[in-house]
Amino acid sequence: MSKILIVYGSSTGNTESIARKLEEQFAAAGQEVTVLNAADAAAEHLADGYDAVLFGASAWGEDDVELQDDFAPLFEEFGVMDLKGRKLAAFASGDRDYPHFCGAVDVIEARGKELGAEVLADGLRLEGDGGGSRDEIAAFVQEIVRKL
Ligand SMILES: Cc1cc2nc3c(=O)[nH]c(=O)nc-3n(C[C@H](O)[C@H](O)[C@H](O)COP(=O)(O)O)c2cc1C
Repeated sequence: MSKILIVYGSSTGNTESIARKLEEQFAAAGQEVTVLNAADAAAEHLADGYDAVLFGASAWGEDDVELQDDFAPLFEEFGVMDLKGRKLAAFASGDRDYPHFCGAVDVIEARGKELGAEVLADGLRLEGDGGGSRDEIAAFVQEIVRKL
C-alpha cells in the first residue's frame, strides 16, 4: 500500500468533486489517500511521507492561465515543497470553450518537472465535475498505481 496525497483548489466544487472521485478509486485500489483543500495547505513539508502527490486546480483566465484563487498561493510556494525526486500527477476541471482547456495541468506539470519531480501520468483534464468520466478517472488511477 502506498500513501497518496491529493491537493485541490476549487471555486465552484468541480475540481473538488474530481478529487473525491480520485480518492474513492485510489482507496478501492488499496491505497491510503489523504485529500486536502489548497486553502488549508501549507507548502513546507506538505509532501513529506507520501509516495505520490496529486495536484488539481481549475483555471480562471481568459487568454492566460490564472490558477484558482486558493491554489495560486500554494503554487507560488512549490519551490519550498521539496518536490525533487517525488512522484507527481496533475488533474483539473475545465471548460473547452476557453483557449487553455484545463490549463492548470500544464502549469503544474511544467513546474513539477522543473523542480525535479517525476510526472507519473498524463494529466487528467475533465469537463465539469467529472461525473461522466468514470472510465477516464479509472485509467488515470490505474496508470498511477502501476508506477507507485
Ligand atoms: C472567467 C472564466 C475564465 C475561465 N478560464 C478557464 C480556462 O482558462 N480554462 C478552462 O479549462 N476553464 C476555464 N474556465 C472554466 C472553469 O475553470 C470551470 O468552470 C471549472 O469547472 C471550475 O472548477 P472549480 O469549481 O473546481 O473551480 C473559466 C471560467 C470563467 C468564468
